[in-house]
Amino acid sequence: MRDISPMIIRPEASKDIPYIRTLTDSAFVGVEHSSQTEGAIVDALRDAWALTVSLVAELEGSVIGHVGFSPVLIDGQDIGWFGLGPVSVSPGLQGGGVGSALIKAGLDKLTSLGAKGCVVLGDPPYYGRFGFSSDHALRYGHVPPEYFQSLVLGGQPAVGDVTYHTGFEAA
Ligand SMILES: CC(C)(COP(=O)(O)OP(=O)(O)OC[C@H]1O[C@@H](n2cnc3c(N)ncnc32)[C@H](O)[C@@H]1OP(=O)(O)O)[C@@H](O)C(=O)NCCC(=O)NCCS
Repeated sequence: MRDISPMIIRPEASKDIPYIRTLTDSAFVGVEHSSQTEGAIVDALRDAWALTVSLVAELEGSVIGHVGFSPVLIDGQDIGWFGLGPVSVSPGLQGGGVGSALIKAGLDKLTSLGAKGCVVLGDPPYYGRFGFSSDHALRYGHVPPEYFQSLVLGGQPAVGDVTYHTGFEAA
């Protein structure tokens, strides 16, 4: 495994945009439950000014990871909650801590912006390590509750039905 100790996590810059697209498209190839549209989703969120937090992991001048966070609605209301994702790490560098570093930095950034909470759709044990847990009071469509997790960042747990930004309908 390549040494990632010189890696830095920083906000995306405009020069990163094509690299984030390539990285995201490649990271999701062959991933179960992937729509294979995650790269387009990141671009659509950015175009709609809905990529509230967008961080890249840079190693020796190359973008090797990316995470985005966008606003979600709860029962149709913007109450300061966000959705984590997509999150991508270069296929050859997965499993080395890059994704964890991006997610932790992104959650710190959201907290500093005054976000009240964050939701994520994905593997429960993986996201559980960042403090996410399943809360049956916060629902996302017909997704089994264990795969839809939330993390309170400030204030009270939220209750209701979650709607992601329309950027997630990008194809
Ligand atoms: C998911 C992803 C972002 C995680 O980043 P990463 O840098 O590979 O993961 P980390 O090194 O931070 O964490 C590694 C740990 O997470 C586990 N893990 C990694 N990817 C996982 C996944 N997709 N599901 C469940 N567990 C996963 C590993 O088994 C490892 O566990 P360990 O520490 O107990 O050995 C990355 O693997 C990736 O880009 N995957 C393809 C795209 C994807 O599935 N994105 C998430 C859905 S939005």
